[in-house]
Amino acid sequence: FDQAPPKTEIITLTSHVLSQQQRHPIATGDLTLLLTAIQTTCKFISTNVRRAGLLNLIGQAGSSNIQGEDQKKLDILSNDIMINSLRASGKCAVLVSEENEEPIFIDTAHRGRYCVVFDPLDGSSNIDAGVNIGTIFGVYKCRDDSEGTLEDVLRPGSELQVAGYCMYGSSANLVISTGQGVNGYTLDNGIGEFILTHPNIRIPSRGKIYSFNEGNSLFFHEPVTQYLESIKFPSNGKPYSARYIGSMVADVHRTLLYGGIFGYPSDKKSKNGKLRLLYEGYPMAFLVEQAGGLATTGTERILDIKPTDIHQRCPVFLGSKDDVEDVMRFHQ
Ligand code: AHG
Ligand code: MN
Ligand code: MN
Ligand code: MN
Repeated sequence: FDQAPPKTEIITLTSHVLSQQQRHPIATGDLTLLLTAIQTTCKFISTNVRRAGLLNLIGQAGSSNIQGEDQKKLDILSNDIMINSLRASGKCAVLVSEENEEPIFIDTAHRGRYCVVFDPLDGSSNIDAGVNIGTIFGVYKCRDDSEGTLEDVLRPGSELQVAGYCMYGSSANLVISTGQGVNGYTLDNGIGEFILTHPNIRIPSRGKIYSFNEGNSLFFHEPVTQYLESIKFPSNGKPYSARYIGSMVADVHRTLLYGGIFGYPSDKKSKNGKLRLLYEGYPMAFLVEQAGGLATTGTERILDIKPTDIHQRCPVFLGSKDDVEDVMRFHQ
């Protein structure tokens, strides 16, 4: 095939964020610096993910987190990378991590105006098999006159300033929204920069893929069972395809690009499902809505939920608008 010379007009995440900020009259540059810190953590984690098998980073750390999950070495390492980098940025007041029982309140010397909620390593069960994993984050701004308290992070996802994830797959893909659509960047390891490769991601209004852990079928409630029947045995004779990776980041990434529906419902065993509202539910719901899709618990918009606990869980259905509306109808 014809080999064109490489493109020289690249847009990096840094320059893209900077140019967006310059159009904002009252921007101080703080958010730009925070996003710089976040993208650096993603590069750092990506490097470790890729070398995990060589650096003895595979396997259990021997500890467990507040949700009772066994922590992997990479969970702990990624968490340390995030916390250190976010503190050093000088732009954060409160951090909430899946791996820390309590919120982290940043000392005065390093304190800034932003709060970051994050899942440092999503898809832990896939690490040792080399399957896609990721990092999920959401950013709130402290309320006026607040120095950073629990109330600054116990807020609905609709108040997020920024949401995003980085998926560590065949390449590292950073997908982010500051509330004006969704952009995707791919890490060019050669120059060490995230390059804009997926501008203005729009999720198709209907897909052909469903993504649920059907191993939980025994426990599913009736609306979910009936919905799944409807897409597996449709009257038009065109059933949906099943795709389930077991890393939310990877399943949501595919859903954003190809369309369809991802679900982790509540069931007879888990009253609120499995996924955590603050650092899994909200950021992904924010991105999906910004890309033109929907995210619901089945009966309620995820971004509207008022949280009461930083580690609370919530049922999740997200993806293409028409597909999510279908599952909502089964819940009526
Ligand atoms: P984490 O690895 O951060 O604890 O998250 C795991 C989550 C999420 O990535 C995924 O969608 C889900 O757990 C998979 O759960 P099952 O193994 O129960 O399907
Ligand atoms: Mn976990
Ligand atoms: Mn996770
Ligand atoms: Mn995790």
